[in-house]
Amino acid sequence: MRPALSRLKLEDIRTTNEGMSRCLRLAAVASQSDVPVVLLGETGTGKTLLAHAIHNSSLRAGRAFVSFNASAMSDTLLESQLFGHERGAFTGAQQTVKGKFELAHGGTLFLDEISEMSSLAQVKILRALEYGEFERLGSERMLTCDVRIICAANCSLRERVAQGKFREDLFHRLNGLTLLIPPLRERVEELPALIAAELKASAAREAKSIVAIHPEAMARLLAHDWRGNLRELSHTVRTMVLLCDGEVILPENVLFSPDLAASSPSVARESAEVSPPNGTHAFDSQDLSLSSALSRHVQFVYGRTNRNQRLTAKLLGISRSTLARHLRALP
Ligand SMILES: Nc1ncnc2c1ncn2[C@@H]1O[C@H](COP(=O)(O)OP(=O)(O)OP(=O)(O)O)[C@@H](O)[C@H]1O
Ligand SMILES: [Mg+2]
Repeated sequence: MRPALSRLKLEDIRTTNEGMSRCLRLAAVASQSDVPVVLLGETGTGKTLLAHAIHNSSLRAGRAFVSFNASAMSDTLLESQLFGHERGAFTGAQQTVKGKFELAHGGTLFLDEISEMSSLAQVKILRALEYGEFERLGSERMLTCDVRIICAANCSLRERVAQGKFREDLFHRLNGLTLLIPPLRERVEELPALIAAELKASAAREAKSIVAIHPEAMARLLAHDWRGNLRELSHTVRTMVLLCDGEVILPENVLFSPDLAASSPSVARESAEVSPPNGTHAFDSQDLSLSSALSRHVQFVYGRTNRNQRLTAKLLGISRSTLARHLRALP
C-alpha cells in the first residue's frame, strides 16, 4: 500500500506511461537541488502528492513541508498568514503567531493554486523570495527564510503572464523546472494497473475479499474519461468496493459521479429543483459528443491491445490507415 504523504517518496510513485515517466525523471532531478519547481496539471492528477514526494526525496526530507493555498486567502489575512504577527499587532492578535515562511524555514514551502493568487500575494511572496528575509506584522526584526519553493497550478503560468494576471518577475523567480503531469485519460494503458492497485487497497480497508472485476465492469471503467483524474478514480473504486456484495465487481457496481447524483434521493431532489425542465446542466462537465465517445473507444481498444495497431484496426473493423487517422486526431 502507498505510504502516507508525510513518508511518500518518488520511488513509491510508479508508472508505465511515457509522459508520467518523464515527469518523474524531472522530479528526481529537482529533488537533488533547491531549484524552484512548478507542477502543472489538471485537478486530481497528483500535484500535491508529487510535491510531498519531491520534498521527502530531497535533502530537506525530515524538515518542514508547509502548504499555502494562495487562492483561498483574503488580502486582509494574507500578510499575517505568510509572515506571522506579534502579539498586539492588530485588534484580536492575542498571541505571537508564526507565518508560513517562518514555519517552512529549512524545509519546503508548497504554494498551491498559484495561478489564482491575488496581486498583493504575488508582491509579498516575490519580496520575501528576492531578499530572503521578512518581518512579522508588528515587528521590525528581520527574519531570514531559507525555503525551497514548489508551486502547483492547473493552467499555464506563462499564459497568465500574457493575460496580465501574473507578475512576470515572480514567474521568472518561480519558473525553475516545470513538470507537466498528464491527465489520466492520456494514461489509458496503465488504467488497469491503477484500478487494480486502488481496488486492492480499498478492499483491504473494507475487509472485503474481492478477486476479480467483471469484463463489462472493466470495459466501463476503461471507457470513462476521468475528468477528475486520480481523485475520481480513487472515489469510483471505493464506491464500487462498497457496493460489491460478492467476490466480483459487477457492471452495476461501477457508478460515476452523475450516476451517483441520480441514485441519491436528496441530491436528485436538489438537482430537480434547480434544473430547467429539459435541463442539461447535469452533463455540463461531460463531453457527450459522438466524436468524443469515438475517440475514447479508439483509445480504449488501442490501450487494451497494448498499442497494437494491426489488432486494434481489426477489432474496430476499420483499415489501418483509418485507424492511423483516428490516432493522429486523439487529444
Ligand atoms: N500516482 C498516483 N497513484 C495513485 N493515486 C494517486 C496518484 N496521484 C494522486 N493520487 C490520488 O489522487 C488524489 C488526488 O491527488 P492530489 O490531491 O495530489 O491531486 P492535485 O493535482 O493536487 O489536485 P487539486 O488540483 O484538486 O489540488 C489523491 O487521493 C491521491 O492520493
Ligand atoms: Mg492539490
